[in-house]
Amino acid sequence: MEKYVINGGNKLYGSVKIQSAKNSVLPILAAAVLTDGEVTLLNVPEITDVKNMVKILVRLGCKANFSGDNLIINSSSANNFEIPSELAHELRSSVFLLGSLVSRFKMAKIAFPGGCDIGLRPVDLHLAGLKRLGVEITEKNGYILCKCEKLTGNEIMLDCPSVGATENIMLAAVKAEGVTIIQNAAREPEITDLQRFLNSIGAKVNGAGSSTITVEGVKTLGGAVFRPISDRIEAGTFLVATAMCGGKVVLECACAENLISLIHKLRENGCKIDIKNDKIILESSRRLTSVKSIETQPYPGFPTDLQAQITALCCICKGQSIITENLFETRFKYVPELRKMGADITVINRSAFVRGVDKFKGATVVAHDLRGGAALVSAALAAEGKSEVLDISHIDRGYGRFEYKLRDLGGDIVRAAV
Ligand code: UD1
Repeated sequence: MEKYVINGGNKLYGSVKIQSAKNSVLPILAAAVLTDGEVTLLNVPEITDVKNMVKILVRLGCKANFSGDNLIINSSSANNFEIPSELAHELRSSVFLLGSLVSRFKMAKIAFPGGCDIGLRPVDLHLAGLKRLGVEITEKNGYILCKCEKLTGNEIMLDCPSVGATENIMLAAVKAEGVTIIQNAAREPEITDLQRFLNSIGAKVNGAGSSTITVEGVKTLGGAVFRPISDRIEAGTFLVATAMCGGKVVLECACAENLISLIHKLRENGCKIDIKNDKIILESSRRLTSVKSIETQPYPGFPTDLQAQITALCCICKGQSIITENLFETRFKYVPELRKMGADITVINRSAFVRGVDKFKGATVVAHDLRGGAALVSAALAAEGKSEVLDISHIDRGYGRFEYKLRDLGGDIVRAAV
């Protein structure tokens, strides 16, 4: 068990290079199981979600080796279609492998997935989609069992635009016989990136980024060298942290286009933001003003993965804010922790009512999930005095070299054993 020890109060200055998107890399790793060709992913982040996904690929019989920041995968030796519970529980994205495994082996057996405890997170839409492609599904003793004679393209209407379900169906459809049309598909940039990857290995996918995705089944796939898009949530976390601490930070290798909703809100708060090619420059020089209301929505709305961070920022702005979480049921677990730091927040149903205070005060707090944990670190960096953030393994799931990057910007943060 490790913790962060943070002495707050330093402004942040300098530049930080944004990693490749966790939520792009994970489904692409699942997609690599579809092909016997060699796949090289560039600039892969050093995060435990990726390490766990690699462990799963190795358990399936794939070869996966890091060469610096690059990851080389060869699935030609894959010979196993079962993901045991100890691996699946570490990582929700293991569920993406259903689509790939059933495509490759016509069989898959996966323990119900784990991941952040942020709500019910059912997989009914993933399973309903796979059934429409001809997969028989049974659930037994905590395992999902899938089998089919063959996969056949079909029209699938998602009840809600689930990111994971859209990706899983895309993966299952790539080598299905005929055409699959996914209606009410999620429109997140990571879906467009998955399409770009699949097409780079020879798939025929169109429409990602819109609500209708068409997958024309192909017989064979090859290899590729591929650079995933930059991580909009890591970028957003650094923008919010700078807004909270004050200072001026340049994000390198960032994609402002994918962060429009956050940039809009931060400008409303009073931050100065410039965009130059793949750089986003944020300057925050005075106490900011609260935004009145924020509601999380599927892309291009405000991302649920930045809800905790923006709420923490609102806690130290002038005025009152209401932040509503529409995607996940229990994504306010960080609120009692922020209260220990002096925040004035009340949660009623799906909304957090925030009255801005002058400053956070240092405290010992516990990270309960990935993004809530990042929000607590940002609050501690902005706080007066010393804080400790416990259970940082949650943060390690999604932020590579987090404390190094923050220290380079002037944050006083160290990792320590508990
Ligand atoms: C992905 C992201 C996660 C992000 C989320 C929403 C990855 C690895 N994770 O998660 O970081 O917070 O998108 O942007 O990419 N739902 C169902 N049935 C299903 C599937 C989903 O009801 O079968 C519901 C969920 O409970 C939730 C909503 O749909 O309320 C959105 O979930 P979804 O888009 O599927 O999120 P994930 O793919 O799990």
